Amino acid sequence: MTNWRNRSLFVADNIHILRGMNSESVDCVATDPPFNAKRVFNAPLGSRSAAQRFDDRWRWDEVTDEWQDLIASDHPAIKEIIEAAAVIEGGRVHHRTGRVSTGAKNSIAAYLAYMAPRIVEMHRVLKPTGVLFLQCDTEANAYLRLLLDAVFGRALFINEITRRRTTAKGYPTRRLPNNSDTVFAYGKSRKWKWNPSYEPYDLANLDAKTLAQYDKIEGGGRRYQLDNLTHPEGNRPNLTYEFLGVTRVWRWTRERMQAAHDAGRVVQAAPGRVPRFKRYLDEQQGRKRDDIWSDVGQAESNDVEWATRKPVALYRRLIECATDPGDTVLDPFAGCATTCVAAEQLQRQWVGIDIDPVAERVTLDRLADETGLNMVDTPVTVRKTLRRTDIPNIPDDKLRQALWARQGRQCANPYCDAESLRAVDLALDHRIPKVRGGDNDALNRIGLCGNCNGRKGAKAWGLFLDEERAKLPHETRGR
Ligand SMILES: C[S@@+](CC[C@H](N)C(=O)[O-])C[C@H]1O[C@@H](n2cnc3c(N)ncnc32)[C@H](O)[C@@H]1O
Ligand SMILES: [Zn+2]
Repeated sequence: MTNWRNRSLFVADNIHILRGMNSESVDCVATDPPFNAKRVFNAPLGSRSAAQRFDDRWRWDEVTDEWQDLIASDHPAIKEIIEAAAVIEGGRVHHRTGRVSTGAKNSIAAYLAYMAPRIVEMHRVLKPTGVLFLQCDTEANAYLRLLLDAVFGRALFINEITRRRTTAKGYPTRRLPNNSDTVFAYGKSRKWKWNPSYEPYDLANLDAKTLAQYDKIEGGGRRYQLDNLTHPEGNRPNLTYEFLGVTRVWRWTRERMQAAHDAGRVVQAAPGRVPRFKRYLDEQQGRKRDDIWSDVGQAESNDVEWATRKPVALYRRLIECATDPGDTVLDPFAGCATTCVAAEQLQRQWVGIDIDPVAERVTLDRLADETGLNMVDTPVTVRKTLRRTDIPNIPDDKLRQALWARQGRQCANPYCDAESLRAVDLALDHRIPKVRGGDNDALNRIGLCGNCNGRKGAKAWGLFLDEERAKLPHETRGR
């Protein structure tokens, strides 16, 4: 059940909006998060004040809270990935507190800590048939793939699509110019939706396999193949009849066969030979597309407004792979709304989120220009907040019972030694505190014994756990 309207734009940090979205309410996430080591994020722009400029250098202080809130306690694999990234860039993991520090100016570990809770939320809001497309450049892609494996599971990796840019970045002398982007595709479950994607044959430049397959040429130069018309299974009384003097089990009914014959599409090499179907190459959907895309071009137009704008053709193609008309598409890093424009053009429902207030005007302008959307009849809803509507309201005593059972009749703190705890003794708490957007979803609730509850206070759950662990004798600290 969705709790946002089609054609919604949220101007806010996406972590808050994502946490406000109902679970399993989106068919496809297609997004292109920021990552750029050296540049301030959006190209300077007359209308943009310096204060609004999004600075894309990652620092720990901004992200540790979120990381401690969620990742450390719930996703140990992500914690290890972030710690490994920190150690690679010369940082260290503090044994006493479990905290990570890295001196790197543009820390990839900090970037991962920022992305991880957002990817966890993107995963939650996807329907079981949903697909995530995450675009990234060569600086971050290996790290993001680990993160995606940790959140979605390795078995749900679908593709790594390589997009060729039209112009390489710079002319370095001691390496090859980088000319590619990566789009990772992951499914929410084994039931992910997928529509096959075709590219038109290049008729002037056919590969050997197609030439061998479509080996006949008509007077006018059209290539075709002769295909079998008999049915693969033997026993089909209603499909068994005589046609052009030959009796077989056919693939088609007599009426359909006759119509194809009248249209000149059923041919017989000589009397008595089995009739065959004439299939023209130029009528085929094309060749099945693979995972290297060099034909999506660059972003259209004189692109001064949003330096990171991506081609609509790329997002149209991604959306077509994973959705049908009417399905819902989310871009939590919407920028100048390339995903939203592509979704609107393809009759998909969409929702975009961007932290930059300039995104609003740019999005509305582009939708009008590139999709002809009439803002009077089909307005775009612009909002700053969202609250989930799919959280059942469980009375406290029932919640205590449920948490008590889930926690193995213990306090939620795994390092606590309180014994013979009763459900009624549990103090109810939030892992992600409410002040930071945590909600009443049962997964966000914990039950603590009175002692732990007192010591935790308003601390983030992950931070509290790390401190608890640090108090243990050294040899028992492993988990
Ligand atoms: C690489 S750009 C996306 C460009 C987009 N694909 C397009 O074609 O315009 C990343 C965008 O993410 C936005 N952004 C960065 N951090 C964000 C956050 N925490 N929440 C929402 N948006 C964010 C930036 O303002 C920027 O517009
Ligand atoms: Zn306790």
